[in-house]
Amino acid sequence: MSTATAIINLDIEGPTISRHLYGHFAEHLGHCIYGGFWVGEDSPVPNEGGIRLDVVEALRALDIPNLRWPGGCFADEYHWRDGIGPHEQRPRMVNTHWGNVEENNHFGTHEFMALCELLGAEPYISGNVGSGTVREMSEWVEYLTRDGDSPMVRLRKENGREEPWRVKYWGIGNETWGCGGNMRAEYSADLARQYATYCRDHGDNKLYRIASGASDADYKWTETLMQQISCFGCEATPKNFFQGLSVHYYTLAGPWEAKGSATEFDAEDYYRTMLSARRIDRILAGHSTVMDVYDPGRTVGLVLDEWGTWWDVEPGTDPGFLFQQNTLRDALVASTHFDIFHKHAARLHMANIAQTVNVLQAMLLTDGDALVLTPTYHVFEMNKGHQDATSLPVHLRAEGARRRVGDAELDTLSASASVKDGKVLISVSNLDAGEPADITLDLRGGTLGEPTARILTADKLQDHNTPAASTAVAPRAFEGVTVTADGLKLTLPPHSFVTVQAPLDQR
Ligand code: AHR
Repeated sequence: MSTATAIINLDIEGPTISRHLYGHFAEHLGHCIYGGFWVGEDSPVPNEGGIRLDVVEALRALDIPNLRWPGGCFADEYHWRDGIGPHEQRPRMVNTHWGNVEENNHFGTHEFMALCELLGAEPYISGNVGSGTVREMSEWVEYLTRDGDSPMVRLRKENGREEPWRVKYWGIGNETWGCGGNMRAEYSADLARQYATYCRDHGDNKLYRIASGASDADYKWTETLMQQISCFGCEATPKNFFQGLSVHYYTLAGPWEAKGSATEFDAEDYYRTMLSARRIDRILAGHSTVMDVYDPGRTVGLVLDEWGTWWDVEPGTDPGFLFQQNTLRDALVASTHFDIFHKHAARLHMANIAQTVNVLQAMLLTDGDALVLTPTYHVFEMNKGHQDATSLPVHLRAEGARRRVGDAELDTLSASASVKDGKVLISVSNLDAGEPADITLDLRGGTLGEPTARILTADKLQDHNTPAASTAVAPRAFEGVTVTADGLKLTLPPHSFVTVQAPLDQR
């Protein structure tokens, strides 16, 4: 049995947890767009203008805050003008990054914006720096967001959209250190300044420009970007060229060459995965520390716009499509990431899991007209009360919940808490594969009313959902909460994730 105490001061508030930490990512990759979000108007799968309605409904239930598109690596070979106008007249291209398949461009700007409207999510568009031009990106912004009369506005209207859309989040390239152009940090930073200059704020549409940032722990890349973020000395009040910079981090159980199966793994693989997941804490801290030097007021956002697990593709599927199953292990990777995101909420403005449907650590898997909610989906749903809530820092005394994994120590308990609209939400994960955990929630500075709790667990870490067994891993009511004089006591089974919600009585 692991034991731990979590001290939560109900009257000491931390930063707001932006809802955008629960963001998403959809790339033209495998069956994320085609077959996932988009089936086309003639499909027997219920759709609105070609967009799958079951997918929309499932994501709306998560309060999906934003969606990043069209990539990823694909973004840097995507030319937006190929994706407007009548479908049959749109040029085709080869998706060289992902499976070398033909892209018919049927899902383009208008379809993406319609999808965001159906989802009630903010668009996050990733522009092409790797193989595009400054003019191309500048005109895309104009096409989307300008009102009145201009060449791009007339083109938009010819394509049936009178009013401009509102777009805030704008990515300037993707992984420019790799698939987005194999650039050096200095060159990439210069390009970010140049492209950002021509990504204009049209009318009252204010862009939040996100420069292509580091991979993993490449703090030098972040430092180079921060050194170039503003034109110090050019103006009386220096203005930042970009408002955020990205970082990408994926969770693996081993090296890239031996990622392992999504469903067939042993306890050792599992613990190595959890160590890798927990590494995001140090990575966010490292980038934040560098950013603090140049931006002590914390106005510039860190944007983790790709994160999640990456396993070998499912046997028999196209290796270029990155289709993987999703087990309880993936769910615990997600719940642990969210606790860490909440802790870094002052600097972390956005995070986007890769990817929403049918690719990598997906929320949803489609199979023809069938739709499966993955264990990861349920973590997003159980945690959605943290969106735009005020964080309540959790101090864990968890010496009794640690285990040796190779040369490292793994904390097997993870927790976070927040308050919103008079309700406190506490999330706790027991990462131990075999031992239950007794957790004392020592609540100070206030009292809570009657708690309700839910749990996500399964017999085995490898359990997952399929069309034939769609609720093998699904949340249910949790009875293991006891109200004590000082707070709450939870007894969590091995490999489980629990959320406790209670009204804040007084503080
Ligand atoms: O999410 C899959 C790929 O991973 C993205 O296209 C790329 O940005 C990253 O390397």
